[in-house]
Amino acid sequence: MRKFNLFVAVLFFTGLSSLQAQERIPLVEELLAKMTLEEKIGQLNLLTPGGGVATGAVVSQNVEAKIKAGQVGGLFGVASPEKMKVAQDFAVNDTRLKIPLLFGSDVIHGYKTTFPIPLGLAASWDLDLIEKTARIAAIEATADGINWNFSPMVDIARDPRWGRIAEGAGEDPYLGSAIAKAMVKGYQGNDLSLNNTMLATVKHIALYGASEGGRDYNSVDMSKVKMYNEYLPPYKAAVDAGVASIMTSFNDIDGVPASGNKWLLTNLLREQWGFNGFVVSDYTSVNEMIAHGLGDLQAVSALALNAGLDMDMVGEGFLTTLKKSLEEGKVTGDQITQACRRILEAKYKLGLFNDPYRYIDASRPAKDILNEEHRKVAREAAARSFVLFKNHNNILPLKKDIKIALVGPLANNKNNMLGTWAPTGDPQLSVPILEGLKSVAPKATIKYAKGANISDDPELAKNVNVFGPRIEIDERSPEEMLSEALSLANKSDIVVAVVGEATEMSGEAASRSDLSIPASQKKLIRALVATGKPVALVLMSGRPLTIPEELALPVSILQVWHPGVEAGNAVAEVLFGDYNPAGKLTATWPVNVGQIPIYHSMKNTGRPATTESFQKFQSNYLDAPNAPLLPFGYGLSYTQFEYTDPSIEKKEIGQGESVTITVSLKNTGNYDGEEVVQLYLRDVVRSITPPMRELKGFKKVFLKQGESKSVSITLTPDDLKFYNSQLDFVSEPGEFEVFIGTDSNATDKVTFTLK
Ligand code: BGC
Repeated sequence: MRKFNLFVAVLFFTGLSSLQAQERIPLVEELLAKMTLEEKIGQLNLLTPGGGVATGAVVSQNVEAKIKAGQVGGLFGVASPEKMKVAQDFAVNDTRLKIPLLFGSDVIHGYKTTFPIPLGLAASWDLDLIEKTARIAAIEATADGINWNFSPMVDIARDPRWGRIAEGAGEDPYLGSAIAKAMVKGYQGNDLSLNNTMLATVKHIALYGASEGGRDYNSVDMSKVKMYNEYLPPYKAAVDAGVASIMTSFNDIDGVPASGNKWLLTNLLREQWGFNGFVVSDYTSVNEMIAHGLGDLQAVSALALNAGLDMDMVGEGFLTTLKKSLEEGKVTGDQITQACRRILEAKYKLGLFNDPYRYIDASRPAKDILNEEHRKVAREAAARSFVLFKNHNNILPLKKDIKIALVGPLANNKNNMLGTWAPTGDPQLSVPILEGLKSVAPKATIKYAKGANISDDPELAKNVNVFGPRIEIDERSPEEMLSEALSLANKSDIVVAVVGEATEMSGEAASRSDLSIPASQKKLIRALVATGKPVALVLMSGRPLTIPEELALPVSILQVWHPGVEAGNAVAEVLFGDYNPAGKLTATWPVNVGQIPIYHSMKNTGRPATTESFQKFQSNYLDAPNAPLLPFGYGLSYTQFEYTDPSIEKKEIGQGESVTITVSLKNTGNYDGEEVVQLYLRDVVRSITPPMRELKGFKKVFLKQGESKSVSITLTPDDLKFYNSQLDFVSEPGEFEVFIGTDSNATDKVTFTLK
């Protein structure tokens, strides 16, 4: 009976929120009343005219004629504000109802001021900084006429074979949710009608990061319990933060592709979460339901509208078939009106009906884009994203007056600094590592040799170079390049080798089945180590790599992702110790591909391995350890931190109560530095198998050399909750273990009981 009442209450609540969603905007309603069916369908059509920023295989045709015919609701990937102005003129002057267009773009990690790739930004664990990068991205993009951003991408990714792991925050729903919120806030600000805020789009709902085998666009199959607990929270966090739009994913969920999935787009999004913005498909994802095996274009377009999709990106299935489907009774007029209403409401929120040109202001670009202040934040964000894996013999930080052999295919390379999904950035504006080292340490002697190609494989180079030359195979032979680098190394005090992946080795349609450093560079690294000179590896990648051999070498390793437009300056600042690295991994680094998926919140199983060596009839591998190479949360500093005296405020709490855990942290090393104190929770006994531990809190603190601080983190009632088999969000009485420390292997523990 209680359950039943709860159900009624839930219905009432969701009913109420959809009522709120239906609170009508008079101007929009007046417009809808005047619109013909064709004009309404036109608003649901999103096109990309080509000639600008290409992000997919298909480009829309006859865009001008379609805008003038009232058949377009928005454009994306338009090259310049001048072109947007022309397009807006067509919409505003040449159509019957003069409805302005939306202008969208993928501003994923900065607009022209390119910040580190999102996986790198996440490694800063600095929510204010991340919000600031999103704010700057919005200021710059809106200065260039864009009012709708296809970001944040918040797909949880636990399979680094999937290239798009670069584009999100990594494996963890708690951190991912916090970052999703920060980014929505950064893009949208508090007032969407200002001309420097823009609509954000959380994407790609849902579960895109769980593609089987890490192969992009592949199928996904997942239990609801796993979805709710592990994969859905960041999308929901964005919705709770007021995100204006949502983009569907390419994959299927329970056998129905996201763009046609009614459970997803209506039951979950609208009814359970109370989302009242608009839902856009991904690039031709409506049409792709034909290849998924769900029918012809008319059938899949009707399926999408019926499911709750509002806007059709590029594929024009809505434009070309919805009228027929209406005539045949396969969709209703109300559904078309409702989708149109949501698009018009978004335009209204942006203030476009007051002034369709409010984002096109010729005075803004020069002052708002790539200015000194923004570049400064890009430099700071990059330095904060770096993760120190190893500091062999404490060779880092480097002295500023030494002789450096700067080696490696990424050491003097503008084309690979920005990272994947930086279609609005200009690689030629980026600072290569060589230039950065010279400017930060003018007294050092720095000589450069390429040493190796990123890869010697022409086939890989061809696959990677779709957006320009990322892997350039030198005219010289590998032997010649290597010997030049070795002779330089032999004449220097130290070798800095900048190695790793080209930018487009990660990102969309950039899955890899082998995650090692390419063979050409592995060989270079080994030869450099054999010279006996101290070696610091600066490692670039858009994903976790498998580097057990490199980690075992007597080298130092600084992971720098793809650092963005200020790459060289930031790398130099960290190598020379002007900034002490404090980044921490947000995705586990596996020993080998066979361990994937591997993440910190795995379950214990009924047969957990209890030793590091193989145990028959326990859950382990014959030929690899269970432990990852580098755990989630991992990252060193030039200084050391000591954790002591973990304590908990109360040993017993009731439902609805919070509890605070405190630990004392001391900087025991020789440098000032920051540490990300991390808190992991284990729900020891519950009705569904608990993860061994889950991130539930963190705090980034700065400590001067020798300084101590006591750091407290509070667990809220929600932190103890999970979705049970009935998908109720509950906390169950019993014992909890709390681990607090420097990474997800933290062993300092306190316990408490929930009554
Ligand atoms: C990607 C989206 C992107 C869209 C538009 C698609 O291929 O999956 O993330 O927003 O293109 O560029």
